[in-house]
Amino acid sequence: MAFTTIAGTGGYLPERVMHNREFESLVNTSDEWIRERTGIKRRHVAADDETTSDMALAAANRAIEAAAINVEDIDLIIVATTTPDKVFPSTACILQRHLGIHNIPAFDVHAACSGFMYGLDIADRFIRTGGASCILFVGAESYSRIIDWNDRSTCVLFGDGAGAVILTAGDEPGILSTHIYADGQYEELLHVPAGVSSGFDLLKSQAAFIQMKGNEIFKKAVSTLGAIAREALAANNLDKHDIDWLVPHQANLRIIRAAAKKLDLPLEKTIITVDEHANTSSASIPLALDVAVRDGRIKRGNLLLLEAFGAGLTWGSALVRY
Ligand code: ACO
Repeated sequence: MAFTTIAGTGGYLPERVMHNREFESLVNTSDEWIRERTGIKRRHVAADDETTSDMALAAANRAIEAAAINVEDIDLIIVATTTPDKVFPSTACILQRHLGIHNIPAFDVHAACSGFMYGLDIADRFIRTGGASCILFVGAESYSRIIDWNDRSTCVLFGDGAGAVILTAGDEPGILSTHIYADGQYEELLHVPAGVSSGFDLLKSQAAFIQMKGNEIFKKAVSTLGAIAREALAANNLDKHDIDWLVPHQANLRIIRAAAKKLDLPLEKTIITVDEHANTSSASIPLALDVAVRDGRIKRGNLLLLEAFGAGLTWGSALVRY
């Protein structure tokens, strides 16, 4: 049986950088409040004519280059996104067209901020069972499109971007294990109520924007991330002290700190991009991974714990030998 290896990573952030101070003229907030409560200093915002698939393409090209593969080697495309270009076809199919690849499967995964963990789980199963041997997996999001720019409790939290990995079949792991969960009973803690089957009128109302009970999400995130980290370690007979790097979903620095503390990991062993990127949902883990691989912190052989929590509610973790 084959194992899944991360052969290369890539990231893309839109050119426009929006600093906290810019929100001070939009809503009743301050740079100080945003930094203190979230750790966010700035975020990137997609241009008006820039789509999720455009960002996915840029990240994908960088991952393809880093993995030193040819586009023709790719035999499956997965895109994790909650902000697709179109209702259909999937953003993965649009990305496939941009890349000029034909006759391979391509599909989207929709698990909000846990999208990267869900897609990684699926990709790993494809490779382990021989269904694919070279997967392009991208997390890409345009949350600026589903933010109510008049709602201070959500508009300061999110950013746009894309992160990509090339996953190939290898003789040694690679991905040691993945663990994904959901509990739909918490649907209304974090949602965009509008949708196609709810009727297009809703899409022209406040229902088209993110609605969140931030405080409740915060508490659930902290306790759940602790539990899935323990589960991933136990599944591999590993100890928390074996972890070289924690690469968490980047929602809030306080959540990340709490997760690191539970693992006895100093913040220096935690990859943090929330200050620069804010919460880019499905894109946040692959973007963080790419930043740390490229700046040399994450090295081949390192043990990585990836973990995420998001709308659904959904959550997941993975242990990866990079
Ligand atoms: N500026 C100033 N004040 C603000 C702002 C703001 N931007 N936002 C909220 N406040 C106010 C609130 O109105 C409230 O005021 P009140 O006491 O007068 O009512 C006060 O600050 C405290 O509000 P809380 O919600 O209790 O603040 P908290 O410390 O919990 O921080 C935050 C809010 C940052 C949203 C935090 O709860 C959080 O990060 N939650 C988790 C978000 C998250 O992780 N989402 C998950 C993933 S997203 C996805 O899946 C798509």
